[in-house]
Amino acid sequence: MRAWAGAAAYHRVMTGRARFVELLRASVLRLRGRARPRGADWHRAGVGGRWDELGALQFQFMVDHGLLPHHHLLDVGCGSLRGGVRFIRYLEPGHYAGIDKEPDLLAAGRTIELARAGLTDAAPRLHATGEFDLDWLDPAVRFDFALAQSVLTHLRPGLVRLCIERVVARLAPDGVFYASFFEADDDRVRLGPSHGWRQDELQHPRYPLSVLRGLAEEAGAQLEYLGPWDHPHDSRMVALRRS
Ligand SMILES: C[S@@+](CC[C@H](N)C(=O)[O-])C[C@H]1O[C@@H](n2cnc3c(N)ncnc32)[C@H](O)[C@@H]1O
Repeated sequence: MRAWAGAAAYHRVMTGRARFVELLRASVLRLRGRARPRGADWHRAGVGGRWDELGALQFQFMVDHGLLPHHHLLDVGCGSLRGGVRFIRYLEPGHYAGIDKEPDLLAAGRTIELARAGLTDAAPRLHATGEFDLDWLDPAVRFDFALAQSVLTHLRPGLVRLCIERVVARLAPDGVFYASFFEADDDRVRLGPSHGWRQDELQHPRYPLSVLRGLAEEAGAQLEYLGPWDHPHDSRMVALRRS
């Protein structure tokens, strides 16, 4: 009996301790700006904030590069639909698909942002995957355009290659995959620190253009450098086409 009471007390202390350690860890991360944001609009902060500005920037970029309502668009790393709500409103029903590795961001996009935009009937195809899996899509669907806005800007080289390989394989014959990245100012890859709350991501890796081009070639794609595109963090844009 005494041993049992002792074990129970020990368990209580250890559980309390674990909770305390977890709280401490979360507080430290939050103080360093690396914990999952909180509050009603956490999902907007969770993709970097600047909701209207970056939503409009990517939408206008795609329209300026030929996106029309009848086209099919794949939004790679669509997050909570910062660009997605604008694309969904613009495209014909069923012509938008989005993938992201964070199910909670997708859910917030679907339940909060589509409702705010008055698009609850839109039923976009959204899928959670961290490996750019596109096998869940109807095999007949080929995308006229794909976009990865501020996604390669968080990926290690292996995932950059996998992303390009899987996305270009699902493009229409003359389809284009636009992707933004941070360009290194010399010939060294700089991976930098990990992102924080979005697991398995880097904060701001920088790639020399030659390295990105090499990864694209390994992935079966040709890369065209478009350069600056007015992004507030000065990311650069590339166009990828099936080789
Ligand atoms: C800065 S946010 C940009 C989101 C969206 N493109 C936008 O402009 O609002 C980066 C997004 O990439 C997603 N992401 C990162 N690594 C990924 C991976 N391996 N597979 C799918 N999505 C990924 C993150 O979950 C996050 O939603």
